[in-house]
Amino acid sequence: MAIQDDLSTLRSRALDALGAITDLAAADAWERQFLGSKGELTSILRGLSAVPAEERPAAGRAANALKVELTAAFAAERAKRAAAALDERLTAESVDVALPGRPPLIGTAHPVSQMIDEISEIFGLMGFQTVFGPEVETTRYNFDLLNIPDDHPARDVWDTILIDSTAGDLVLRTHTSPMQARVMESGGPPVRVIVPGRTYRYEAQDASHEWMFHQIEGLAVDTSITLADLKGVLTELARQLFGPERQVRFRCDFFPFVEPGVDFAVDCAICGGQGCRVCKQSGWLEMGGAGMVHSNVLRSVGYDPAAVSGFAFGLGVERMVMMKYGVDDLRAFAASDLRFLRQFTRPFASRSDQMGAQR
Ligand code: FA5
Repeated sequence: MAIQDDLSTLRSRALDALGAITDLAAADAWERQFLGSKGELTSILRGLSAVPAEERPAAGRAANALKVELTAAFAAERAKRAAAALDERLTAESVDVALPGRPPLIGTAHPVSQMIDEISEIFGLMGFQTVFGPEVETTRYNFDLLNIPDDHPARDVWDTILIDSTAGDLVLRTHTSPMQARVMESGGPPVRVIVPGRTYRYEAQDASHEWMFHQIEGLAVDTSITLADLKGVLTELARQLFGPERQVRFRCDFFPFVEPGVDFAVDCAICGGQGCRVCKQSGWLEMGGAGMVHSNVLRSVGYDPAAVSGFAFGLGVERMVMMKYGVDDLRAFAASDLRFLRQFTRPFASRSDQMGAQR
C-alpha cells in the first residue's frame, strides 16, 4: 500500500532529523516540518480520504500511531534541548560573588543648591520660613505691586524677558521680589519668609552675569521692624556663611519698592579686606540689595503702613558661592563640568549644631 510506504519513509526521515538536532530552534523547526498544521504528517493524514475505503482503516491507524510516536519523540528531544539551553544560560550568567564590587557613583548637590540650603537653614534658625514662587510671573507682581508702574523708567533697570501670551502680561521673573506681594496677600502680618529661586534677565553673559541665575528674597513685616533688624539679620547671615569676624557694609541705593534702600557688602573673606582679584581690589564683596518695605507696597497688598513696617532683601546666590569659595567666573555654575562641580561637598555637621556650639 502506497500510503504505508509513505509513512514508513516519513518515519525514518523524521527520526533521523530529530537525532541530528542540536538546539531548541532546530527542534521547533523540526516540529513545524513534520507535525505542524502544514507539516508532512498532517498532509498525509489529510490525504487519507483519497485512499480506497477498504484500506482506509488500516492506513488511518498507521498514520495516527506514527503521529503519537513522533509527538512523544519530539517532546522528549525538546525537553532535553530546553534543559541544555537553560544550563548554558545559567553558566554564562552566573555571578562571581568573590569579584570586587563596582563603587556606586554618588553625586553631591549643586553648589547653588547647597548655598540655598545653607542660607535657608540659617534663616530658619532666625524664624524665617522658606517658600517658593512662580518663575513665569505677571507684570502686576513683577512690577506694579512693587511700586513700579507701567510707564516708570525703573522698569528699564531689569532687562525683562517677556512672554508672548494670550493669558495677559507675563514675564520670566526678573527677581524674586514679586513674592513679597504674593506672600503678604496670602496672610499676615506678621510675615517672616525667604524665597529662593531662579530669575531671568535678557543680559549678556560675562564672568559675573548670567541670563538665568538664582536669588534669595527675604521679607519680614511686623509691628515694629526697623532698619536695625535688617542690619542684624544680614550681619548674622554674613558671619554664619563667611566666618564670625566678617564686617558688613551698608550703603544707600535705590530700589522703587524700598525706602530707604541699601546695597550691602561683606568684607572679602579671601583677602580679609586687603584687596584681591576676587573683590577686585576693593576689599568688599557685594551681596545684594535691601531696604525697608515701601509704604506703597504695604498699601497695595492691604497692609496699613501706619501700623506695620518691614524689611526686604534680595541676594544673588551664585555670587555668594563665588565669594565663599573664590570662584572667579559665574558661568561655571551652568556649564555642567563635573571637574568643577565635584569640588563642592558639604560637611555633614548640621548648621544648628554649629550655631549652638558658637553660643
Ligand atoms: C534686585 O533684583 C532686587 N529685587 C533686590 C532687592 C530685594 C532690593 C528686596 C531691595 C529689596 P539687583 O538687580 O541688584 O536687585 O539684583 C540682586 C542681586 O542679584 C545682585 O546683587 C547680584 O548678586 C544678583 N544678580 C543680578 N543680576 C545678575 C546676573 N545677571 N547674573 C548673576 N547674578 C545677578
